Amino acid sequence: MTLWNSRLGTDPSDALMDFSVSIQFDKRLAKYDIEASLAHLFGLKEVGLVEQGEFEKISEALKIIEEEMAAGSFDFIQTDEDIHTAIERRTIELVGDVGGKLHTGRSRNDQVVTALRLLLKDELKNIFSNIIDFNSVILNRAKEVPDVYLPGYTHLQRAQPILLSHHLLAHGWAFFRDLDRIWDCYLRLDCSSLGAGALGGSTLPLDPKIVKDRLGFKNLFENSLDAVADRDFVAEALFVISMVGIHLSKMGEEIILWTTSEFGFATLDDRYSTGSSMLPQKKNPDIAELARGKSGRLIGNLTGFLATLKSLPLAYNRDLQEDKEPLFDSIDQIKLALSAYRGLYETIEFHDTSMQSAADSAYSVAIDLAEWLVKKGLPFRSAYNLVGSIVKDSIQRHVALPELVLAHPDLGEQAMEIFEPGSSVKRRVTHGSTGVDPVKIQIKNYEKKLNETKKQLLKI
Ligand code: ARG
Repeated sequence: MTLWNSRLGTDPSDALMDFSVSIQFDKRLAKYDIEASLAHLFGLKEVGLVEQGEFEKISEALKIIEEEMAAGSFDFIQTDEDIHTAIERRTIELVGDVGGKLHTGRSRNDQVVTALRLLLKDELKNIFSNIIDFNSVILNRAKEVPDVYLPGYTHLQRAQPILLSHHLLAHGWAFFRDLDRIWDCYLRLDCSSLGAGALGGSTLPLDPKIVKDRLGFKNLFENSLDAVADRDFVAEALFVISMVGIHLSKMGEEIILWTTSEFGFATLDDRYSTGSSMLPQKKNPDIAELARGKSGRLIGNLTGFLATLKSLPLAYNRDLQEDKEPLFDSIDQIKLALSAYRGLYETIEFHDTSMQSAADSAYSVAIDLAEWLVKKGLPFRSAYNLVGSIVKDSIQRHVALPELVLAHPDLGEQAMEIFEPGSSVKRRVTHGSTGVDPVKIQIKNYEKKLNETKKQLLKI
């Protein structure tokens, strides 16, 4: 028997049940649905709709159900449409008709959104702390290589030498923005929806504030229609997770390039590499490739769910049940990816010599030559044109650039220091640049941000 059997008089068709049940995936809400049910029950007791003895009996039943769920011994039956139905059915089984009081003034519509908000509060905290851990790994790796430099690229063409630490930290700053977004998303979703009922509240003297406080939500809904229809927080969470996934994907592309024989900038630890089933010599960067591939899936979860939302009339519609699978999938995938990246990044070996020799090409300091001339008083555009024509000459006539610089009347012997390997990163002095001194300051700021962010986590 379904919950709504008394109205329809007949059992639902198998086809309807097969199509509509959500128990196979919303089981995951069990713990949160019980937490919300206990708070709702407390609210009912406080306003006199449930007596103390009834409160104790039903609470006891809910705790037994929680244990059964945790132990995996809860017996789901065919008519359990979803987790809310299953928990209510079992409550009544355990305590008899009085268990039917639990659903007083409540609907699955306000129930499901409350449970989902509670779950997401926990999961966003988990993802937040996984990103902090990963950002600490990035910092440690950056601190290990204070002087190592490699070519910096634009358009994937060598541009100028960049410190490896600067390059690694660039990824970390992107993750700090993700942390800010997660935090922001968390604050907005920290709102109780219980008490909205099916859509219009209740004739009973419920006090949703009591329930909200009991559940530790910061805010309480202001409008019962909005409370049951709002899934903005799911879309936002799917977006912030997609953004983390996109950052991992971009890093993945870099790992894939760096570990090729063509680049030779890094080698993955065997524990974080895969082999080939046929080619004995292969060592493959599958973690990076999967992160790149899965970012497409995360974006799909976001855009698919936005499409689900876009034409829904107020208030609850069953379409909203489609919120859970993409959300759970994105949560699981991002946690797995972050944990794999953490290990990969802790163990990846960087090859200083290959990086540095690739960056030591004389052409990569062309801008330094132009700025050297600017310091001598030349307008930048004239300096640029002068160096540009020497570079062109060098390429066309197959003469090494330093030779032409040495022979040039405006450059000569004095300008030769510019070609000193590794000197370019020492010359960069501006804020946030790849210079050795600015990067020392950047590392301090990064460390400060990391500590502040860790403290932020303790506040929620
Ligand atoms: N399983 C449903 C969901 O996920 C719960 C709410 C059902 N409400 C209803 N009016 N049928 O959205």
